[in-house]
Amino acid sequence: MAETILETERLILRRWRPDDLDAWLTHLNTPQVTEHLGGVRTPEQVAEKLEKTVRAWDEEGFAFLAVALRDSGLFLGNCGLARIEGDAVPDALRGAVQIGWQIRADYWGQGYATEAARAALAMAFERCGLERVYAQTAERNPASWRIMEKIGMQRRADLDYVDPHFPPQDNPTIIYALDRAGWRAA
Ligand SMILES: CC(C)(COP(=O)(O)OP(=O)(O)OC[C@H]1O[C@@H](n2cnc3c(N)ncnc32)[C@H](O)[C@@H]1OP(=O)(O)O)[C@@H](O)C(=O)NCCC(=O)NCCS
Repeated sequence: MAETILETERLILRRWRPDDLDAWLTHLNTPQVTEHLGGVRTPEQVAEKLEKTVRAWDEEGFAFLAVALRDSGLFLGNCGLARIEGDAVPDALRGAVQIGWQIRADYWGQGYATEAARAALAMAFERCGLERVYAQTAERNPASWRIMEKIGMQRRADLDYVDPHFPPQDNPTIIYALDRAGWRAA
């Protein structure tokens, strides 16, 4: 039985299990879901990313988790925490912790990502004892930055940066942040 880490009204956020690779490939590795994430990856690249995510949980004590419907167990996507990496990332952000989310497109617009994100933020501050959490997206991805605003994150335009791995229309990478005090206040 997969280990449930977080529960919300409608969702569980749980550790990964072997059959999730197929679910990820089918429901998340699609042109629609990856539109602002650099596009569809090869199955090998997805498998590698999933393995890295599984390892991160053991090594860091946080990671992106699988998101599933609480009632049926249906796989919806992922949400969680990861270190910010990449050669284009400014020093002020490299190694810091970010929150992120992906929900399968046939379940968009029902508040699932926001619900999962609130649980992941609570994990960051309560369980992991982090002082600050960042989030990254593009102007062209309003569904994502709307979530950042809804969960109380503040825009940090001073930390925006150009990432040449993404096309011009998805640049610059825009940054939001929330610290522990802000989270408590919210
Ligand atoms: C981003 C994503 C996770 C949102 O999932 P979701 O479950 O539909 O999100 P929610 O329903 O919780 O909230 C989305 C919010 O964005 C708003 N939104 C969605 N599309 C929008 C658009 N084109 N313009 C403006 N707002 C939009 C919704 O109205 C909602 O805000 P509201 O509650 O104030 O109405 C989903 O679209 C996704 O998986 N996208 C692809 C992966 C991705 O880009 N991840 C983020 C990487 S930075």
